[in-house]
Formats: sequence, structure tokens, C-alpha cells
Amino acid sequence: MTKAIYDNHGRRISYLRLAVTDRCNLRCFYCMPEQGITYVPREDLLSYEEMLRLVQVLTTLGVDKVRITGGEPFIRKDMPDFLRALSRMEGLQQINITTNGTTTAALVPELARMGIHSVNLSLDTLDKDRFFEITRRDSFEQVMETFHLLLEHGIKTKINAVVMADKNIDDLIPMAELTRDLPVSMRFIEEMPFNGEGQHYDKLYWHHANILAHLKTAFPTIEKIPDPPASTSYNYQVPGFKGSIGIIAAYTRTFCGTCNRIRITPQGSLKTCLYDNGVFNIRDLMRAGATNAQLADAFTEAFQNRAKDGWEAERRRGFDRPVKESMAKIGG
Ligand code: 5AD
Ligand code: SF4
Repeated sequence: MTKAIYDNHGRRISYLRLAVTDRCNLRCFYCMPEQGITYVPREDLLSYEEMLRLVQVLTTLGVDKVRITGGEPFIRKDMPDFLRALSRMEGLQQINITTNGTTTAALVPELARMGIHSVNLSLDTLDKDRFFEITRRDSFEQVMETFHLLLEHGIKTKINAVVMADKNIDDLIPMAELTRDLPVSMRFIEEMPFNGEGQHYDKLYWHHANILAHLKTAFPTIEKIPDPPASTSYNYQVPGFKGSIGIIAAYTRTFCGTCNRIRITPQGSLKTCLYDNGVFNIRDLMRAGATNAQLADAFTEAFQNRAKDGWEAERRRGFDRPVKESMAKIGG
């Protein structure tokens, strides 16, 4: 019997985004300040045992898909062992990973063997100098190597590019051009204020409609294709191209009505929306000796009090706490 759990707005919860670390070896402009980052002390992070336990409890509630994210997941020691254990877990249909690709290349064959369903590679430019400007590190070649190995090993690959005024607008068309010959899903993401500092803009110019209009200047025949269920992207394809193009309205939040996802931060805070402030801490419950049934009850109760959308979640935080934490502390 397949289990299913629904929230107070009738949305099925089936997808967990698990951030396994807040550490990262890059310093992307839209994610972290260049300096002065304080990382979570190691003992505050969920252990692998704790993560496996909470995923197992969530599968009993009907979660069947997990995304491993961060920070940079592969910065955490023994990540392949954790992924292997996860890949053997009953009830889990799909394991996806979001990585910056800087240290991933050597692991790609193993990821393929484990049956990892897809990898999202964070890459905002095809230009080495701009890569350095955006990430403040010189790892462009390693990321491109990972990209090509993923395709060679037949792992479903998406590229995530955050669209940033004055930074990578000249890259949008060359990146979309990748979909001509490669079976890749190229996704352009609206920049959100999750950078550890606060809003970069008074008003976001590069929202989904403007991104699409810009792509149309080079690809006038681009057409809408159906969006997968609970998708956060509007999907498009240029007729005859092998890959597809997605635009993610992460800031304008137009996709909340079908949201099937929850997040757990590296310290074990449950977020039922990217924009909320954390509902309860699952690590504390586990360390206080809660049984699996008690953990399941805590999740179930939290799902009954979900904000309707990201705007409501943000309002509930109160005006003294505007959204500004780093994405690396939440899990993209
Ligand atoms: N706005 C939009 N997307 C972001 N990401 C990180 N920070 C932001 C932000 N401020 C995305 C990156 C990466 C994923 C982990 O989260 O594209 O792919
Ligand atoms: Fe690291 Fe990803 Fe944040 Fe860039 S966006 S600093 S790669 S966690």
C-alpha cells in the first residue's frame, strides 16, 4: 500500500530536501557573503545516522523522493557511504543531488552505479572569468568536467543558473544554446534574497517574464512544454533541440499551490516552506529520546499548519525577521 500524507491545504507531501552541511568551498554572490561566515559547529549538525532515521520515518508517511543539498554536499566527509545507505532504503523511489560540481567528477561513476536519479549542477556562466567573479573561486574547469562526465554516464542532468543583473545576463543565451545538442535541462532561477546579507535589489528586474522575453530574442520559436506535476519551473523547448529550458519563479513564488516539499536544514530544523523560519527541530527531538512514532506525530502535526504560500510563510516570520539567511544554511 502506498502511503500518502496531505497538508492543511490538501497538498500531498512527498518530497524532502535534506541539506547535509552548511559548508561550501565556493562563495557564490547570491548565496553567501565573501567573508565573515560562521559555520554551524559540527556537533550541531545532524549525524548520518540521524539523517537516515528521519528519512526512514518520513518514508512511512509517504515521502518517496529526496534531494541531497547543502552547502556543498560532497564537502561532508564520507558522503558516498551515506548515499549508498540511502540508496538501499526501502520506500524511497528517487534520490537527487544538488552539487556545485567542484569535487564531484571522480564520484560520477559511483553515483551512476548507485542509481542516483538526477544531479542538479549549480553553474551560472560558461565563462571562466565570470565564474570567478560570481563564485569568488577558480573552479570552472572542474565543474565543466563534472558536467560532461554526468552526461557520459547517462545521469539525468540539470544546470541551475541564478539570473543576476550586471553579472551573467550575457550568459543566458549561450547557456540556453547548450540544449541544442545536449540532453540537458537548463534552468534559470530568479534570484532570491537568501545570501546572508538581505535584498540585493529594490525591485527584481530579472523575473521569469523578462528572462523568457530575453531568451525569445535569440530563440523566437521557443515553445511551452508541459510542466511535470508539482514542478517549480515553467518549461520550454526550442523545437528540434535535444534539451529543455526551465524558468524558476523562485522569488515571485507562483508555484506554491502544488508544493509537495519540505526541507530539513543541516541542524535539523524542519521548514515546511523555503520562506518560513523553521517549525521544530527534529535533531533535538531525536536527541531527547523520541520514538519513531513520536517523530512521525511531530511531522504530521507540522504538516497540518503549513502556510498557504511563500508570501504567507514570510509574513508569519514577523517584520523584524526579514528573509536574509544564506541558502547554504537552508538547502537550495
Ligand atoms: N537565489 C536563487 N537561487 C539560489 N541558490 C542559492 N542561493 C540562491 C539565491 N539567493 C540556488 C543555486 C544552487 C542551489 C543550491 O540554490 O542555484 O543551484
Ligand atoms: Fe556553495 Fe551552492 Fe552557495 Fe554557491 S550556491 S556558495 S556552490 S552552497
